[in-house]
Amino acid sequence: VHTVPRVLCSSETAPLAATRMTERVNGIGLLGCGTVGSSVARRLLELHPDLLRAIAVRDPLKPRAVDWNDFDVDPFEVVDDPAVRVVVECIGGVGLARELVLRAIARGKDVVTANKDLIATEGPWLASFAARTGATLRYEAAVGGAIPIVRALASSLANEDVLEVGGVLNGTTNFVLDAMEKGADYGAALAEAQRLGFAESDPRADVDGHDAAHKLAILAGLAFHRPSVSGGVLRRGIGELTADDVRAGAERGWQLKLLAIARRGAHDGAAIEAGVTPAYVPAEHPFARPRGAENVVRVVGRRAGTLTFAGTGAGGDATASAVVADVIAALENRERHLPAHVGDDLVTQPLRARVLVRFDGGSLVTPEPVPLDQLEATALVYGAHGVVRAVVPLWDDAA
Ligand code: HSE
Repeated sequence: VHTVPRVLCSSETAPLAATRMTERVNGIGLLGCGTVGSSVARRLLELHPDLLRAIAVRDPLKPRAVDWNDFDVDPFEVVDDPAVRVVVECIGGVGLARELVLRAIARGKDVVTANKDLIATEGPWLASFAARTGATLRYEAAVGGAIPIVRALASSLANEDVLEVGGVLNGTTNFVLDAMEKGADYGAALAEAQRLGFAESDPRADVDGHDAAHKLAILAGLAFHRPSVSGGVLRRGIGELTADDVRAGAERGWQLKLLAIARRGAHDGAAIEAGVTPAYVPAEHPFARPRGAENVVRVVGRRAGTLTFAGTGAGGDATASAVVADVIAALENRERHLPAHVGDDLVTQPLRARVLVRFDGGSLVTPEPVPLDQLEATALVYGAHGVVRAVVPLWDDAA
């Protein structure tokens, strides 16, 4: 038997909109109360004391910065609770989270999730499934933290013929590269990103580029109006970069960034090139601007021209800002569906960029762009100039 949790925190200044929301069966069930989940819970409790009906956690005894003393340990019970109309999934990963999202959709409940792994691997069919059961699936927080890029692509730019989308999509790696530029050690910078709540529970998802590839697949699906999953996105991480690589860029006025970009091919506009890679970016380029855990997403449209979205890309409160906006949209029944794209899956080819080759006694930038799965071959080609020390892409919009 479900008991309505005792709410210890109330707001005397609940906004009118939130008061109206509670006139229907509008309970929210929160699954997971870690970095993002606890920020979501705090904000929902501020909005209206009756919105949040249940919070499911694995370990109810773990200390949390949330004024709530009646945690549930069975997340399936929370999903099934008739008082819960909106299920907010903040568990992450594709195991338990996937099962719970499926169950919520099967029961016709609105789902809000920050889960980029799940959306990037199964989003297209989950959206179709939701369209069949009368559920809705919202995932603004899955990409870019507080930056409203999912809604912008799905709605404001729905009529746009997008030529390119992407940029700096991972806050943790940006934080680490930024710190390395200031002289910090890689390991210490990554530990600090973990402490600040930017990194994934397994930070290899950040440093190996999986997180950015997931986000890119989500953006590419929305931008190119096709079902898109991250499996085919070429991916390189930052794990092998050295202080020398950072220094070599700084000497040339370039910064190292982990870029995630999908674009129509320069030679074949029907083909989409996509990839995640560390790359040098000239200091004046918009992709060089993010500091710390910030992200930047650039959308180049045939008619709209270049649009740049920038802001806080990771962290509890920034991500919760996007989650709670989706919750409000679900409660108000706004933008009922994000598009469930149909048709063939988007097939991508490796992104191409010119590369800086550094060898003993010199360096050069390749005159032509190189597909990013050919960097090792490029090192061999230029081996005749001397022992090759590093091959790093350069993103200057010239290619
Ligand atoms: N680990 C992610 C990042 C969190 O660093 O960007 C936000 O998705």
